Amino acid sequence: MINVLMNGCNGKMGQTLSDLIEELDYIRIIAGVDRNPKKFKNSYPVYPSFENIKEEVDVTIDFSHPSALQDLLNFCVNKKTALVVATTGLSPLDNEILKQASENIPIFVSANMSIGINLIMNLVSETAKTLHSNFDIEIIEKHHNEKKDAPSGTALMLADEINNALNDTMNYVYDRSIHTEKRNKNDIGIHSLRGGSIPGEHSIIFAGLDEIIEIKHTALSRIIFAKGALEAVKFIYNKEKGLFTMKNLLKELI
Ligand SMILES: NC(=O)c1ccc[n+]([C@@H]2O[C@H](COP(=O)([O-])OP(=O)(O)OC[C@H]3O[C@@H](n4cnc5c(N)ncnc54)[C@H](O)[C@@H]3O)[C@@H](O)[C@H]2O)c1
Repeated sequence: MINVLMNGCNGKMGQTLSDLIEELDYIRIIAGVDRNPKKFKNSYPVYPSFENIKEEVDVTIDFSHPSALQDLLNFCVNKKTALVVATTGLSPLDNEILKQASENIPIFVSANMSIGINLIMNLVSETAKTLHSNFDIEIIEKHHNEKKDAPSGTALMLADEINNALNDTMNYVYDRSIHTEKRNKNDIGIHSLRGGSIPGEHSIIFAGLDEIIEIKHTALSRIIFAKGALEAVKFIYNKEKGLFTMKNLLKELI
């Protein structure tokens, strides 16, 4: 049995995972942490911070907010628990702190836990390599009206994948209203739409002369992120230490 601590347990993803894990027999949520601890009646104790947790935790799953990161890492490193970080909007400094902590514990990080979107990463980078000389590349992402960070972590992951494939030659452009010149060949335009209850949609558009190629991923519910996070838990459960991503997991899955 894998004992999980759910950070951000009273959020949309925390509750989706709580419902999913309830149905499974190899894993259980032993405790939760949330800034808003009384929002729901959960089947496990919920703490407002990491200080008073007495339960024995194997893996901590984090779907919360970047502001939780330092306390979260202090807890996981002190208790030697594995950590799955799904929270987006992490800064370069946050990523550096995660890397340092992974010298002591296993940490899995992905701004998108869906297996599907991670599978198309390769497709996107290969397409970029093949088409870039004649096609302009733009990314459009759509999310629900409660999402706080923009652009989405996934849009940035996709842009980074393309940029790596093109030897770090690309510039990211987020807001064309401040530009008075036409787009540069090496721009990747990244655009965010927020509205309603959209769980997540990403389109990578390759626009050429008289033709457009679009690679698109649509999340129809949050379950796909929750299921991906559970694959990540199984992946790092018995690891000793190190920093892992979906790329490592997909190598084992496929
Ligand atoms: N990696 C992925 O696949 C994936 C998928 C969906 C969402 N996300 C990300 O996960 C995060 C949570 O998403 P959500 O839709 O559940 O958001 P949400 O706002 O519904 O839930 C966040 C929860 O975290 C709690 N919280 C905020 N700050 C906290 C802190 N410092 N300490 C403890 N708890 C805190 C809030 O009270 C809330 O209950 C966001 O960053 C989102 O972008 C990632």
